[in-house]
Amino acid sequence: MNPEKLVRLERMGLGPVWQLRSHADESVAMAVTDATAHVATEFATELSTDLAALDWDDLEATIRDCARCGLCRGRTHAVPGVGDRKASWLFVGEGPGRSEDLEGEPFVGPAGKLLDNMLKAMQLARGVDTYIANIVKCRPVDADGSDRPPVQNEVAACRPFLERQIDLIKPTVIVVLGKTAATSLLGLNEETSLASLRGEPHSYQGIPVVVTYHPAYLLLKPEDKAKSWRDLCLAQSLHDER
Ligand code: URA
Repeated sequence: MNPEKLVRLERMGLGPVWQLRSHADESVAMAVTDATAHVATEFATELSTDLAALDWDDLEATIRDCARCGLCRGRTHAVPGVGDRKASWLFVGEGPGRSEDLEGEPFVGPAGKLLDNMLKAMQLARGVDTYIANIVKCRPVDADGSDRPPVQNEVAACRPFLERQIDLIKPTVIVVLGKTAATSLLGLNEETSLASLRGEPHSYQGIPVVVTYHPAYLLLKPEDKAKSWRDLCLAQSLHDER
């Protein structure tokens, strides 16, 4: 790796320690019945048609008013996304955590600081030719008040919002952060491993998609930052090719 890249990689290590949201409670995901998921999918199909004509401001207002799944009940703020609405780079995370729910902006906690450093290493910046969004727009929270990954019906209910965002942005490349975001965006079985998705481009509606680690995971496993940097280099080359 050339020295300039090493320096950039080093910069990615500046984030403070952060607690990874719990991915342990698989039972929550398992508790979602097929019937619930089916209803959510039907609901989502209707919603996609309704959203197709919305411009940015109406789309964001619709997200902020949304009550299509139970996550709306616990939210302080819905978190539609942030950045350049015509960005060539789209970064997609899983869903807002506690800090994001309080501020209404994605990736503002410690994982967000690492994401900002990753952007900086790529000579990008939040809001400058980048848009940051999540798979779900409201914070998934456990009964004990801790962050958790979104479950299938929440992902299905929220998906049309991200689809419309992607339609409006028309990014050159999408970088997906973490397994939940990757399997949700690519419509894969949630058991698919992140390892099997890294290292090669995927596609969403003809747009190249690169899968990498979630910054919260990288804060706990900094030794995987080098692998993440390789993913970002792949994304960069796909971006530059187009
Ligand atoms: N983790 C995410 O996936 N998204 C955020 O916005 C914050 C933390």
